[in-house]
Amino acid sequence: MTDELAKRTLAAAAIARAAGELQRKFFADRASIGMTFKGPQDYLTVADGAVEKLVMGLIREAFPKDEVLGEETGGSKDTRALWVIDPIDGTANFANGIAHFCISIAYMHEGEAEIGAIYDPMRDEMFLARRGKFATCNGRPMKVTAVDDLKRAQIELGWSTRRPVEAYTGMIERTVKAGASFRRAGSGALGIAYVADGRADGYVELHINSWDCLAGIVMTREAGGRVNDFLGEGGIEKGAPVLCANPALYEPIRKLAGL
Ligand code: IPD
Ligand code: CA
Repeated sequence: MTDELAKRTLAAAAIARAAGELQRKFFADRASIGMTFKGPQDYLTVADGAVEKLVMGLIREAFPKDEVLGEETGGSKDTRALWVIDPIDGTANFANGIAHFCISIAYMHEGEAEIGAIYDPMRDEMFLARRGKFATCNGRPMKVTAVDDLKRAQIELGWSTRRPVEAYTGMIERTVKAGASFRRAGSGALGIAYVADGRADGYVELHINSWDCLAGIVMTREAGGRVNDFLGEGGIEKGAPVLCANPALYEPIRKLAGL
C-alpha cells in the first residue's frame, strides 16, 4: 500500500493544482461564477459544481476502484478507500471577490485519514501532508507554533449557521476575556492549514463537515499539532466539532470552545 499511497499523494497535489487553476479562471471573471444560495449564508456558485466535476473526473480516471465524497454531489461514506473533496472552500469569499479560498482533498484508507492536499491558487501555496511522513507548504516542512499563553494566542473561530448563535458568541466572549485574539477568515480548510504552518495557534469550529477539515487534520497532526477525534465523533457521517491547535494550547482552547 505504501506505493499506492505515494501515488495518491502525488495525484492529490496534481489534481488540487488543476482545480486551483480552474478556480482562478472563474475568479478572474466574476460574472461567470453564477452565485446562488443553498440556505442562509450558504453560498453556491457555478464554479463549485464545475471544479467538483473536474476533480471527481480526474480521481475516477486515475483510481477507478476508489470511492469519492464531495461537498456538492455527495457520494460514498465507505472509508476503506475514500477521497473527500471540497471543490471551493471559502465559497462566500470567492463569490464576493475576496482572494481567500482553496481546494481541499483528503484521502482515507481503511478508516484512516492518510493524505491531505489544500491548494490556495491565489497565493500559489500547496499545503501537502501524508500521515507519518511529512507536512509541507510548497515543499518546505511545516511546524505548529510554540505559543503556550492565551494572551499571545491567535485563534481562528470558525462559524456556520449549523450551531446556535449563543454557542458561537459564548466562545468569542470566553476567548476575548482570556486575552486571546480571534479571527474568522471564512475558509476552514485554509484556517487549519495555517495552524499546521504556524500562522495561527489554533482553529476551532463547533460543527464542520469532513470535506472542510479532513485534509487539514492530516497536516496539523504531521506538523506536530494536536487534533480532536473528528472521525470518532462521526465526522464523516454527519460532521462534528473540530479543534486543531499546538499541543500547549489544545486544552485551553478546548475549554474556551466549551468542547
Ligand atoms: C465553509 C467554510 C467556513 C466554515 C464553514 C464551511 P464553504 O465552507 O469553510 O469557513 O466555517 O463551516 O461550511 O461553504 O466555504 O465551502
Ligand atoms: Ca467548505
